[in-house]
Amino acid sequence: MNQAVFTLFGASGDLAKRKLYPSLYRLYKSGVIKENFAVIGTARRPWTKAYFEGIVVDAIGNLATSKSDAQKFASHFYYQSHDVTDSEHYLTLKNLQDELCDKYQTNHNKIFFLAMAPEFFGTIASHLKSENIVDGQGFERLIIEKPFGTSLATAEKLNEELAQAFDENQIFRIDHYLGKEMIQNIFAVRFANILFENVWNRDFIDNIQITFAESIGVEERGGYYETSGALKDMVQNHILQVLSLLAMDKPNSFSGSDILPEKIKVLQNLRMPNDDDFVRAQYTAGTISDHTYKAYVDEDNVANNSKVDTFASGVFFVDTERFRDVPFFFRTGKRLTEKGTRINISFKQDTNIFGQMLENNVLTIYIQPTEGFSLTLNGKEVGKTFEMAPIKLDYRHDAETLGNSPEAYEKLIFDVLNGDSTNFSRWEEVQASWTLIDKVIETWATDKTPLYYYKAGSMGPRESFELLEKYHTTWLWTPDEWY
Ligand code: BG6
Repeated sequence: MNQAVFTLFGASGDLAKRKLYPSLYRLYKSGVIKENFAVIGTARRPWTKAYFEGIVVDAIGNLATSKSDAQKFASHFYYQSHDVTDSEHYLTLKNLQDELCDKYQTNHNKIFFLAMAPEFFGTIASHLKSENIVDGQGFERLIIEKPFGTSLATAEKLNEELAQAFDENQIFRIDHYLGKEMIQNIFAVRFANILFENVWNRDFIDNIQITFAESIGVEERGGYYETSGALKDMVQNHILQVLSLLAMDKPNSFSGSDILPEKIKVLQNLRMPNDDDFVRAQYTAGTISDHTYKAYVDEDNVANNSKVDTFASGVFFVDTERFRDVPFFFRTGKRLTEKGTRINISFKQDTNIFGQMLENNVLTIYIQPTEGFSLTLNGKEVGKTFEMAPIKLDYRHDAETLGNSPEAYEKLIFDVLNGDSTNFSRWEEVQASWTLIDKVIETWATDKTPLYYYKAGSMGPRESFELLEKYHTTWLWTPDEWY
């Protein structure tokens, strides 16, 4: 059972309502937090405690076992209207925090969650320190959301700002993909199965393909997306995190301190591909499931001559003994044919004695929307002759398991309560990934990589398919309409 006061900056925001309040409720239901916790929500709006409780009850919606249970949970929530630049407000916050620490007997444990734009992080961190809100009593942990900068230089600046109040081991940078059930399962598949453990290297793996496809567009986030694009929004963080889990060497133990150096080794050994090994593109108008969607440049808060990438695809090489020369292909984009996150690991062929075409063995990890694995083998077709055919062993979680599977945020907040930073982005990872992405952006700035276009509802531009052809392979997951 855990004790803490959570102070949430950005309590009226979308993330808080959609993810944080439901996740805290699930932790409450499962007994991870019980009586000894309180949440201070802060935002600019002049809400009352009663109004805030109503927001929390609404946010947990159907998850609530009963109305009274939801209300009891929400009674732990306090609200303070707050201007992050106003020193006076931090004094009130400090008083409220101290009062709640006593009232709920939380041993002065404190968790701060900055669910707001990073430009305010520095101001908040310096006030938390100067007003003694971070006072060295109990544990004090900070949770922040990406973007962690927009380049190495801005990420470094952000980190220095946070360092005014928090040490690296107190900072929990959320990459919500690391909280996903099937991403965490990569560890299990790789290191709990001798079947794979011994062939997870350049001698046996032909190539690895990572697809993070989304059918949604930029929704209401045009303003943010104009400063980001697919490369910064998805590749710098989520895709490179997943790639490092796939490519890392076996850690000495399943602990964060042993896993981190292995992941960093991958990121630091990622080889910059050639200029034409990256494809960037933007969606034009098109149709998905009979619905016509407008072009990116026609979205709200997007410049009509915008050159921002809504799709990024490319290949990385990991210069380690394990994976030297094995291509890791990736692609991610908005408004693609369907929502689907999956990883295909394609194995090499053995000497073929059959005189027939054989398929590569492929292990597929389905991250979402369904969760599971499949393994494609070559087998003999039923009959008198010896004809080979691919056989697919397919495992998906059933609906019940899925329904009970914890939300990424629930798992990640649970980890923060336990002080376990294994599934968070550590500073050295952020540093290594920006170093690489900065180089890609430099190339893009010189226009050596043209911006291509793809229709909404396709799987990206033709050039993303041609990229793999250059390496004598194809995207293994290709829904009917490709480009
Ligand atoms: C976020 C990106 O990090 O991940 C969004 O900023 C993207 O643009 C989202 O839509 C995808 O997450 P998920 O969990 O829906 O695959």
